Amino acid sequence: VDDDTPPKTLDSRSLESLAKYIKDGRAKRIVVMTGAGISTSAGIPDFRSPDTGLYANLQRLNLPYAEAVFDIDYFRKNPDPFYALAQELYPGSYRPTITHSFIKLLHDKGLLLKLFTQNIDCLEREAGVPDDKIIEAHGSFAKQSCIECKYPYPKDQMQQAIKDKSVPRCLNSECNGLVKPEIVFFGEQLPESFFRNRFLPEDSDLCIVMGTSLSVQPFASLPQACGESTPRLLINSEQVGSLGSRADDVLLLEDCDAGVRKLAEACGWLEELENTWSET
Ligand code: APR
Repeated sequence: VDDDTPPKTLDSRSLESLAKYIKDGRAKRIVVMTGAGISTSAGIPDFRSPDTGLYANLQRLNLPYAEAVFDIDYFRKNPDPFYALAQELYPGSYRPTITHSFIKLLHDKGLLLKLFTQNIDCLEREAGVPDDKIIEAHGSFAKQSCIECKYPYPKDQMQQAIKDKSVPRCLNSECNGLVKPEIVFFGEQLPESFFRNRFLPEDSDLCIVMGTSLSVQPFASLPQACGESTPRLLINSEQVGSLGSRADDVLLLEDCDAGVRKLAEACGWLEELENTWSET
């Protein structure tokens, strides 16, 4: 396909044809790739949206540049900005969105091969997507440990430290290194489970990318791993990455929650989706 193929913005024909592809049972091994944009309607800011994104609202932390708050070398020198923010980031009382429930619905229908998420809010888990179907590519707040000796740190003590905005230190007396939740900072390796599964998109028969700017590697390369004959659907407020460059790409450039409702309706699943969401 030549590069200047205009992206196929979703018109009723391509939505209908994608829904038919699914209803005809030709999409049984769906990979889903998500970012912070699927949680904004839950009240969690994303990172790069102008004005509302997290990176546009960190002036009070006097960082050399916004992403330093998640940079491991900066953290080692100055952990305070991260711990000043951690309280806001810590997964707490957020309700999954209907987009999270759409992923759960795909699993309930036996169609979800794997969900790759960059999010650390654990809302996919809260929505009922089983653990073995989720790759948390940028880690999560589920565990915490010393950044020097990896000595684990108790969850209750971490929650207390986050509440007090204090900086927890390693419990291993010879070490005294800084403790950090196991979210992947810039400069750190992604979890082994990501690398073990990074070629799984080759085995998929539909790829759905939602709520991400695809601006951070190696996650951003995942959609490329899909075979040329695998349709790729982007549901995102803006066009991102290479989505739109292939003949079978479909772009739904709008709000994720509205987009998943449209697709569910075209598949005849809207009532089921709303019921799934109402149970979260
Ligand atoms: N509906 C549709 N799209 C949305 C919505 C929404 N309600 N809200 C935001 N978006 C889009 C934005 O336009 C943007 O394209 O979602 C994307 C969010 O991009 P980012 O803020 O860059 O978030 P993400 O892609 O998850 O960031 C990747 O960067 O800082 C690191 O590790 C962090 O995992 C994060 C990674």
